[in-house]
Amino acid sequence: MQRVASIAAMQRLARQWQRAGKHIGLVPTMGYLHAGHLSLVKRARQAVGKNGVVAVSIYVNPVQFGPKEDFSKYPRDLKRDLKLCRDAGVDVVFVPDDREMYERRGGSLSSPDPRKNLGSTESRPTGFSTYVVEERLSRTMEGAARPTHFRGVTTVVAKLFNLVLPDVAVFGAKDWQQATIIRRMAADLNFPVRILVAPTLRERDGLAMSSRNKYLTGGLRAQATVLWCSIQMARATVKKLKAFPAAGLKTAVKKLVACEPDARLDYVEFFDPDTLLPVSKVKRGAHMALAVFVGKTRLIDNARL
Ligand code: PAF
Repeated sequence: MQRVASIAAMQRLARQWQRAGKHIGLVPTMGYLHAGHLSLVKRARQAVGKNGVVAVSIYVNPVQFGPKEDFSKYPRDLKRDLKLCRDAGVDVVFVPDDREMYERRGGSLSSPDPRKNLGSTESRPTGFSTYVVEERLSRTMEGAARPTHFRGVTTVVAKLFNLVLPDVAVFGAKDWQQATIIRRMAADLNFPVRILVAPTLRERDGLAMSSRNKYLTGGLRAQATVLWCSIQMARATVKKLKAFPAAGLKTAVKKLVACEPDARLDYVEFFDPDTLLPVSKVKRGAHMALAVFVGKTRLIDNARL
């Protein structure tokens, strides 16, 4: 397994693979890998075949974090991530740093103070001023709660597509809105990449796997199952009653979340899985997404009902 840190080396390698006719699969991550990430790697390998190459990027992208969010304390363990990737048969791990991603141009630095503002109060690099913004799908749910988040995601993913030149990129269904936005971005901007979305992996009690689960200490871990309980409750309601007003289900979810002493509902939404447009009557096949603070940790989950 190769470890690549520079943009120049990553692009050189990707061009070599292309010239050799190898299919390239990319799994973009922010590291602190878990079984959910490894299932994306497996999906990428299936897609490119044994003669293809699978690249995993590990980069905690400062630009997708809001000023009061957890950029600086986001869990990191590169040594462990590299071992997991090696064991999973990954060919290349791309591990750029902030300077490489947002400041360096053609071998020189574009700003005399490259770390200025990265991940700090503004999460805005000084030597960088071009962003990719999806303007429709990114307005609701996570986009409403975290106004600059998707701009950061689409910008870094577009950069990764340009650097790794993937034929296929795999994202997790846990971030359903993110995957939908990236698929739209790839289509709108003609990136020659197929976007695959792999199912959410869950712990035994239903909690969706996430690097942020590490924050759930003590009694918070048990309370975090309220997201999955809410999904199951909505699923059961829709199964029994065929169609149910979204407003009524939202109230029921709010009440369920309020039963947990340290949980606070940020939002819950019922929507069409492709357009992300809200539905007023929830039927089977509609999608549900919710965000809940459990203590200080903000967790998200979603599922088809
Ligand atoms: O889902 C994530 O981990 C991140 O949003 C991504 C896609 C790696 C971009 O930083």
